[in-house]
Amino acid sequence: MTRRKLVVGNWKMHGSRSANAPLLSGILESRPYTCDVAVCPPFPYLSEAAVALASSGLRWGGQDCSVHEQGAYTGEVSARMLAEFGCRYVIVGHSERRALHAESDGLVAEKAKAALAHGVTPIVCVGETLAERESGQTESVVKRQLSAVIHALAHCAGEMVVAYEPVWAIGTGKTATPEQAQEVHAVLRAQLRAATPRADAMTLLYGGSVKPENAKSLFAQADIDGALVGGAALKADDFVAICRAAG
Ligand code: 13P
Repeated sequence: MTRRKLVVGNWKMHGSRSANAPLLSGILESRPYTCDVAVCPPFPYLSEAAVALASSGLRWGGQDCSVHEQGAYTGEVSARMLAEFGCRYVIVGHSERRALHAESDGLVAEKAKAALAHGVTPIVCVGETLAERESGQTESVVKRQLSAVIHALAHCAGEMVVAYEPVWAIGTGKTATPEQAQEVHAVLRAQLRAATPRADAMTLLYGGSVKPENAKSLFAQADIDGALVGGAALKADDFVAICRAAG
């Protein structure tokens, strides 16, 4: 099956009003793209991104959301709020949040559910640490992480985007080889096939040191449908080149 590719820029906690404007206009100026393109800026910049990208065909999203609808949850942002700002996506379960904020598989699954309840597509991140890979646990770790979300979403599981991001490849310059990434993507696709009739239409992204130089060989793999890009998403030229590689 040919699936349309998706390239998402995860800006993490980077950016400023003065840096964002040229980055967004650089991405805009390089339209049209033959893949779907989205950026996920920090929350304070979402409204700016929404204004800049309105009617452009480009999409935007948040980097996290609360499991709660509203209430006394200082510092949290709900999926409903993201929907109000036109977010098409929200990243949930990024390894930085799992590690630095002790997010469990169960919590990540609830976040994915909250997102879908407001029409925001969750980009669910899964991935193993270096220690887990070296001890042969890659498959069991990613399956465990994905399984929690599949169960929580039940008949809506086919609506999520999954991003395989090996923790050891994030921000390290060490990319998984296309074959290593494909191997895990195939495992995830098989797990999704057992859960939803939409599995073959679902978008599975790879993330971890994706650069213009390695994007094409990653995108050539059968089950890699695009990328979740960190560092290279902060430079318009690099991000655009990755989007071009997906086309
Ligand atoms: P890098 O592309 O900087 O390795 O980050 C990947 C990532 O974590 C995207 O979510």
